[in-house]
Amino acid sequence: MSAPVTLIGLGPMGQAMVRSLLAAGHPVTVWNRTPGRAADVVAAGAHLAATPADAVAASELVILSLTDYQAMYDILGPATTTAPTALAGRTLVNLSSDSPDRSREGAAWAAEHGARFLTGGVMNPAPMVGTEAAYVYYSGPAELLEAHRAALSTIGAPRYLGADPGLAQLMYQANLDVFLTSLAALMHATALLETAGVRPTAALPELVQTLSGTAEMLEIGENPAAQLEAGEHPGHLSTVTMMGATADHIVTASEAAGVDTGLPAAVRAYYTWARDHGHGGDNWTRIIDAMRPVSPGRSSGGGPDPSRRGS
Ligand SMILES: NC(=O)c1ccc[n+]([C@@H]2O[C@H](COP(=O)([O-])OP(=O)(O)OC[C@H]3O[C@@H](n4cnc5c(N)ncnc54)[C@H](OP(=O)(O)O)[C@@H]3O)[C@@H](O)[C@H]2O)c1
Repeated sequence: MSAPVTLIGLGPMGQAMVRSLLAAGHPVTVWNRTPGRAADVVAAGAHLAATPADAVAASELVILSLTDYQAMYDILGPATTTAPTALAGRTLVNLSSDSPDRSREGAAWAAEHGARFLTGGVMNPAPMVGTEAAYVYYSGPAELLEAHRAALSTIGAPRYLGADPGLAQLMYQANLDVFLTSLAALMHATALLETAGVRPTAALPELVQTLSGTAEMLEIGENPAAQLEAGEHPGHLSTVTMMGATADHIVTASEAAGVDTGLPAAVRAYYTWARDHGHGGDNWTRIIDAMRPVSPGRSSGGGPDPSRRGS
């Protein structure tokens, strides 16, 4: 008999999770602020609880899939006021997005109410939940993940990061940093090409090839992870000077075409900073020093954003 699971939050993500849990044979109890959103999963076999307290009481494992952490307090806070022990002995697994600090606060809040707490970040869109390609970052007590691995694995393959409850969301946001910036660059480049009559249908296949080629370059050619680990930036192929000149050309081309320069100008600023600090001959990875926090005793850091340079 598979363990019962409660799932609170029935947006597209929560509904996909319920379907995966049901398919694996877990009895699933659900609750959602807007009850009508439960219709499909109830038709698929889930039980709709009348109140959040009833939903929490139904299973030791309670998964939350909400817009943010505030929604968890809005839903479970009243339950803990009317019944102070409502969460005692439960395992809350919050798979909602929010900042790492909000995750840490959530873990402390759960502990105050006698609950165990695991945080997670789902790394795929809702339609991919439960597929081979799906994976979820977790942080918090490792034993909680082990205790509930069977149920949680139905959502996606768990990837455990460490005990700090903020880590899962930090890793989620780091990945989305890459994702969102890449998507914005794709749209910028498409707008630039459009000014010369290159249609998006012709532009995007070319541009996407650069995205996949970048992954190959990082994995095979330069091994930047090892360079960053060693704190060394040997420059031979893609130096700060060469990449910085290219960044400058992109800004110039954008200006000439009347396309917004915000994104390429921000990129250029990192290369300009590295060159101005004497790193022109280093590998492009040197620009990380323009992004790192300013720390006393370090000769570099505190890059282009003037608010980070201190007084
Ligand atoms: N959708 C995806 O493909 C995807 C991918 C990766 C990660 N995620 C993350 O997964 C989480 C859920 O995503 P989703 O797409 O299912 O989001 P969504 O459609 O925005 O659903 C959010 C859920 O939160 C509830 N909610 C929000 N604020 C609330 C409040 N103050 N009180 C009570 N309930 C509240 C909503 O209730 P109502 O139905 O009553 O509005 C709904 O059940 C998000 O954190 C999202 O970032 C989503």
